[in-house]
Amino acid sequence: MKTIFPEDLSHKDRHQLLLSGVNPRPIAFVSTLSENGDVNLAPYSFFMAFSSKPPIVAIGPAIAARTGKAKDTWLNILATKQATISSVSYSMVHAMNIAAGEYPPDTDEFEKAGFTKAVSTKVAPPFVKESPYAMECELMESIELRRDIGGNGNIVLLEVVAFHVAESVLVDGRVDPRRMDLVGRMGYSWYCRAQGDALFTLDQPGPNIGIGIDALPDHIKSSDVLTGSDLAKLAHVPTLPMLDGSFPRFDADFRADSLEIELAAGDAYAALYVMLNSGRSHDRTVRHRIAKAFLAKNQIEEAWQTLLLE
Ligand SMILES: Cc1cc2nc3c(=O)[nH]c(=O)nc-3n(C[C@H](O)[C@H](O)[C@H](O)COP(=O)(O)O)c2cc1C
Repeated sequence: MKTIFPEDLSHKDRHQLLLSGVNPRPIAFVSTLSENGDVNLAPYSFFMAFSSKPPIVAIGPAIAARTGKAKDTWLNILATKQATISSVSYSMVHAMNIAAGEYPPDTDEFEKAGFTKAVSTKVAPPFVKESPYAMECELMESIELRRDIGGNGNIVLLEVVAFHVAESVLVDGRVDPRRMDLVGRMGYSWYCRAQGDALFTLDQPGPNIGIGIDALPDHIKSSDVLTGSDLAKLAHVPTLPMLDGSFPRFDADFRADSLEIELAAGDAYAALYVMLNSGRSHDRTVRHRIAKAFLAKNQIEEAWQTLLLE
């Protein structure tokens, strides 16, 4: 592994190295008003939620390293103490990039980038109507980071005083991420999209989240086939499973190809059928390969039963 110290890098390289590891970052599309009432809109990916009671989010508007200029967003929030933050879905991302351009403070980026202003309820800045999710915010605190070094960042803590959620992203009263289709910022010019196979669920950690990897039997822990991720999936069971004598069950007309063909096709059940009918149950590597195929489909119980067929 390469070890890099921040003081050995230029500002630009340090910036990109940091952003290449801290990602994907959500994007806050921040709207503010100047003291004169000029509307501003700009994306900020130094953005995170830090508390839900009270609901607190933070953005990081930097002093531009190249020009030494403070961002309009930051100056506006300091002056008016208010902002809105709209989430950025994939359909908005190209126009969002236009809004990120450097424009004079009196430029209305809603107009420049073709977004529609939605009227806020508790603060003066509008939010982005095209966004499925927006927050109205009031300034809690602005923290300046190392003003002496130039190009420095700032942390602006904002309290959320109202949420807006599009009906179209709600399923049974909950926000469905598949309907949000949000984008994330990565390092350099990379972005990602929270959609399709990129989305998955995990059990919520709690007292019964699992036995842990240290409690797995040695013959499983020392596997040449199962990866750390496979072991972690197996370790999610609340207690060590016992062999279920009725596993597996196959219909009388069940048919399968060779072990290698079925494993290549990811059909763990068919591979198991071949294993059991070819007398290869004693082959630990085969058992582990089949268990791995079950784990790839998150069939944890089947994976355990296959491993226990020892
Ligand atoms: C996706 C994206 C994320 C950005 N995140 C930040 C950020 O976290 N902090 C920052 O200072 N600039 C960030 N920028 C750059 C600002 O959006 C850009 O400097 C913009 O012109 C600032 O506008 P303003 O002066 O109207 O606030 C980002 C740009 C893009 C495209």
